[in-house]
Amino acid sequence: SKGRTLALRGRVLSFAGDPAQEGERAVRFHSDGLVLVRDGLIEAVGEAQAMLDALQPGFPVVNHHPHLIMAGFIDPHLHLPQTQVIASYGAELLEWLQRYTFPEETRYSSPRVASDASRWLLDTLAANGTTSGSVYCTTHPASVDAFLGEAGRRGLRMLAGKVMMDRGAPDALIDTPQRAHDETKAAIERWHGEGRLEVAITPRFAPTSSEAQLEVAGALARDYPDLPIQTHLSENAAELDYVAQLFPHDADYTAVYERFGLVRPRALLGHCIHLNLRERRALGEGGASAIFCPTSNLFLGSGLFDRNALGAAGVRIGIATDIGGGTSYSMLRTLAEGYKVLALRGQKLPAFEAFHLASAGNAQAMGLSHVVGTLAPGLEADITVLDSRATRPLVRRMERVETLEEELFALMTLGDERATVATYSGGRAIYERADAPPERGS
Ligand code: GUN
Ligand code: ZN
Repeated sequence: SKGRTLALRGRVLSFAGDPAQEGERAVRFHSDGLVLVRDGLIEAVGEAQAMLDALQPGFPVVNHHPHLIMAGFIDPHLHLPQTQVIASYGAELLEWLQRYTFPEETRYSSPRVASDASRWLLDTLAANGTTSGSVYCTTHPASVDAFLGEAGRRGLRMLAGKVMMDRGAPDALIDTPQRAHDETKAAIERWHGEGRLEVAITPRFAPTSSEAQLEVAGALARDYPDLPIQTHLSENAAELDYVAQLFPHDADYTAVYERFGLVRPRALLGHCIHLNLRERRALGEGGASAIFCPTSNLFLGSGLFDRNALGAAGVRIGIATDIGGGTSYSMLRTLAEGYKVLALRGQKLPAFEAFHLASAGNAQAMGLSHVVGTLAPGLEADITVLDSRATRPLVRRMERVETLEEELFALMTLGDERATVATYSGGRAIYERADAPPERGS
């Protein structure tokens, strides 16, 4: 189905490269800019006045000035069945899984539970300016059908997977290697490439998959070399000890996934906190992506992501909410906590790099940069509009802000979903802040 044709006017921010490499030269900013959208794709980005003069009379223009217009946020790691696990008290990873998460996930055998959660989650992501994500469903095929069905009806670009887990969890949640294979293959045949949907091969993590099931994940990865893969890697100290017990012949945690062919481009590896040099190099050489989940890592007390060490090994990095180990749906909150985690490591996350990471960087990590992640001609019109004066603390702070970079840093540090003015997917408004109707004209 064709998306919308319209133009969005505002303060337009996009990236022509990675500011971590190219500095400010990578930043494209129009203080009175226009994003021209035709049939759901971006046709042009530039100065508003000149572009408006060239539009035919009656062409629909939405004026979001003075708000910021940028590429929609992308969340490369979150869990559909954990919207009612978020904010569960007092446990580290393995206890948190057993005590809160696994019991809750058993409810998702119900198509009704899964479709209610899918609608709620997609509404919430839109309200936070997030237009794409990579989502763990549950072991139940019904949860994948519910989520991708709903994402497809909304025309969203989404990745999701049936979780493969055949041990270490309640019976109601475990599958078998054969079922994991058949159900993942069925999901691929039904959903992969349907609209903007993709299926990710999703072994939950090494502790909940037998050797035989990891074989299956690897076989699927070989059969479908272009598919995304998502799993968890090296999040928590007790998890590392447990993996060492379960896989005594592998040199380290990463080696387990390598042995089954799961370290490759589009492999989205959540957390990657406690990796050694060999592992970091293996991820870099394999082209896999390390997904930083700061609110989760702080909440579960898992540890501090080492962005600089991973970057030095050439590892692609993304940043994600990890709902519901993570505690916020907002990519702004996530960037803010990412900044603080890195500060504890003596590392930095400048504002331009942060906003690039949450959009173009995540798109690259997911292998989607040819379709989303920045505002450039030919890309899909997935866009978020942000109000950097959305709250009293932001208004107060902005009085003393002088540069765009300072503004963005204050926005990520103080902002949350209240800063989302509008969210567009394929040029269609999927969220509009109730109190702020934009001026529409032509
Ligand atoms: N490791 C395996 N499963 C999970 C999960 O659901 N959340 C987090 N944070 N880590 C995991
Ligand atoms: Zn996770």
